[in-house]
Order: sequence, then structure tokens, then C-alpha cells
Amino acid sequence: AGGHPLAGRRVIVTAGGTVERIDPVRYITNDSSGKMGIAIAEAARDLGADVTLIAARVTAELPAGVEVVRVESAEDMLRAVMERFDAADVVVKAAAVADYRPAVRRTSKMKKKEDRLTLELEKTPDILAEAGRRKTKQLLIGFAAETDDLEANAMDKLRRKNCDLIVANDVTAPGAGFDVDTNAVSVFDAAGRTAEWKVMPKQEIGLRLMRLAAERLADREA
Ligand code: C5P
Repeated sequence: AGGHPLAGRRVIVTAGGTVERIDPVRYITNDSSGKMGIAIAEAARDLGADVTLIAARVTAELPAGVEVVRVESAEDMLRAVMERFDAADVVVKAAAVADYRPAVRRTSKMKKKEDRLTLELEKTPDILAEAGRRKTKQLLIGFAAETDDLEANAMDKLRRKNCDLIVANDVTAPGAGFDVDTNAVSVFDAAGRTAEWKVMPKQEIGLRLMRLAAERLADREA
């Protein structure tokens, strides 16, 4: 399958920013556009995979030709990933999962009363770490947005979360990061930096990453 190196493979990609409810009309989210995850899902599709995109809040257009599952919170995303995890060959966690959520989710709208109000937050489940604990055959790919010590932080994340690959973007580099159409990344595996892709369209990063995933799966079976 020269043009379709992912034929017969199941790929799960998460994308977008999770939405964590405070009350029925208010929430916490982030600036993620979902572009990187959507580009990866499209690349996997084009390389022949059976793709499920688990999308939280995205501002970019959702792709055709892939199964799209919409979720809101980190908790929903965890459930959606885990329901499909055992059947997957590749799991890519490109979503910007909120690290914290309101400790209580109110069922009625909060009233304006005090001059100062404290909102108590608690940690969300770490979906990638949970996937790392659960994985058997899956090639697990995580993302890291770093402003300093790119390599050390990426390698630490790879080990802590039991990932096979970490895609690290230097969010301080021009042409990288949120809501732009390009990115610049380094890819790390257990042995260290395995690729460095300078500023290029997110589509091209997606294709290179999915070709790399196809190679790694093939190597395991060789
Ligand atoms: O620990 P940090 O958030 O920097 O790790 C980033 C990676 O972990 C990303 O792949 C992100 O999707 C994933 N993540 C997750 N669940 C969280 C936080 C991060 O899956 N609660």
C-alpha cells in the first residue's frame, strides 16, 4: 500500500479545546482552534486509515470522510477515547485539554452578589496518561507546548505519560502554535529527538507525522 500506508489501521485523533462548565451558561475554555488535530485526522484519512476525530470546541472546519464525535469537557473526552481505545492502532492527543475545571458544577445560574468571588478548581483527568496506562499495541502520540527546555520537558512527558512519540512545539517560535496555519515542531521518541520539522503548513506536519506512525507500526511487525 505505497500511497496508503495506514490502510486497515484505526486512528483516533483528539482536537480542540475542552469546555468546562461553571453553571448552565458559563464555562472555561482556551484558544485552541483544533487546526493541528484536524490536519492530522485528514492526513490519516488520506493515507488510508479508518479515522475517528474526537473534537471538543474547534473554530476550524471539521473534516469530511472521518467519523466525528463531538465532546465538551475533559471528562467527556476521556470517555469517548476510552470507549474506542482497545480497537485503535494509533492514538493522537492533539487536543488542548483544560488542566483544571470548576470543582462544583452548578445546575442553576450563579447570582451576582459578592464583590469578590473565588472559583474553586480541581484537576481534570489526564487522558494521555490514562491512555499510557491502558495501552497494549497502540502507538500513542502526545503533544507538548513548551516555552523553554523543549527537549527535557518533552522527554519527561514521554516517560511520565508512557507515550511512543511526543510532538513538541516551541510556542515562542514565529509561525508556531494556536490558531495559525503553520507549525514548527520536534518529534521525540524514547531515544531522543527523531525529527525536526521547521515552519510548514499544519497539513504537511500532519502528513509527516502519520507517515512516521505508519513506519513505526510496520517496524513493530517486521
Ligand atoms: O501535561 P501537558 O498538558 O503539557 O501534556 C500535553 C499532552 O497531554 C497533550 O497531548 C494533551 O492532549 C494531553 N493531555 C491530556 N489530558 C489532560 C492534559 C493534557 O490528555 N488533562
